[in-house]
Amino acid sequence: MNTDVVVRTFLDFYRERGHRPITGSTLLPPPSDPVLFTTSGMHPLTPYLQGRPHPQGRRLVNVQRCLRTTDLDEVGDLTHLTVFEMLGSWSLGDYDHPQSLRWGYELLRDGFGIPPEKLYVTVFGGDEQLGPDLESLHTWRESGLPVESTRDENWWSNGPVGLCGPDSEIFVWTGDTVPEGSPTTDPRWVEIWNHVHLRYERDEDGGLVPSRQIGVDTGMGLERLVSVLQGRRSVYETDLFEPWMRRVPVLWELDERSTRVVCDHLRSSLVVLGDGVRPTNTGRGYVLRRLIRRLLTVLRRHDDSRTVSDLPVELVEHTLDHFRQSLDTDTVREVLLDEERRFTQLLERGRRVLSRPEFRGPLREEDYHYLHDTHGLPRELVAGLVSER
Ligand code: SER
Repeated sequence: MNTDVVVRTFLDFYRERGHRPITGSTLLPPPSDPVLFTTSGMHPLTPYLQGRPHPQGRRLVNVQRCLRTTDLDEVGDLTHLTVFEMLGSWSLGDYDHPQSLRWGYELLRDGFGIPPEKLYVTVFGGDEQLGPDLESLHTWRESGLPVESTRDENWWSNGPVGLCGPDSEIFVWTGDTVPEGSPTTDPRWVEIWNHVHLRYERDEDGGLVPSRQIGVDTGMGLERLVSVLQGRRSVYETDLFEPWMRRVPVLWELDERSTRVVCDHLRSSLVVLGDGVRPTNTGRGYVLRRLIRRLLTVLRRHDDSRTVSDLPVELVEHTLDHFRQSLDTDTVREVLLDEERRFTQLLERGRRVLSRPEFRGPLREEDYHYLHDTHGLPRELVAGLVSER
């Protein structure tokens, strides 16, 4: 099943059950939103999940492009990406959580053909404030799937205050053996889908109050689902990354993890550019600049002559096509090359300053501050230069 078929299967399933598709095709949150990028499918829907009527009704479905910088250090492993897509479904005060769980199971089993013996689910087991989520426990027991109860892993919140509630996560077995253990004891159980029961709001004092509207919010990482369905070890081995993994290792000889980081950061940068962001020193533009600098640092670690001007146009086109973005490839090239030039100048300045006698030994915290404030050298870059010595 290629990615397009997976997306279509998901959307059709929910459409047939009365859900209206809504757009998820920008990383930029609505103007009133304080965060820089959309981090999950439910995020732009927050006011509607809190009770404002949505123009498309009470059952919604979409594919939302998301960007997360919180997982940046994990990017390069088998499952984390900076820009990723989330398949989401919502009940805005309409059907209940057990219905969402039953549909979820039906879609995974009948729509995507995942055998039930490869599935495991977790539910909220209760804490000092709330009892266990018995409703979800009973629903799963009726379905016959194995269930594990946890505490903190099965509580979802949309930040320190605001909507939150118990969730139920669905895991798929990715090992080569028959399934063993459970999601908390064996990492080969990989989480693919989260069904959140948005029943509470946390107030400023940390107290929980029932939410004005009870909703259901589900989110499933598209790339991770596709890697499971295509029987791949990592998201980078799916059809989504096929041209990247074919071209990049031939172009630049890097270890496996660095190859993945370069592919992820380049691809993510293209999507951010495609959504209209340009590199700057603040806000969204700075996230993009950091992403490009991180990939240049990895790319040029062992060979200063490597340059993003060698990036094949096929990879730019493949990414822009997939995300249906209309940016022209010359603009992409100009921006990347300009960033590369700035980065090279910064590196040269960094090397010059760091060769001074006062910076020869291990750097102290105040050195990092001085290098940043006086010479414009970001901490990450200085740390990279120090590790070169
Ligand atoms: N909000 C939940 C998540 O981000 C499900 O969409 O995991």
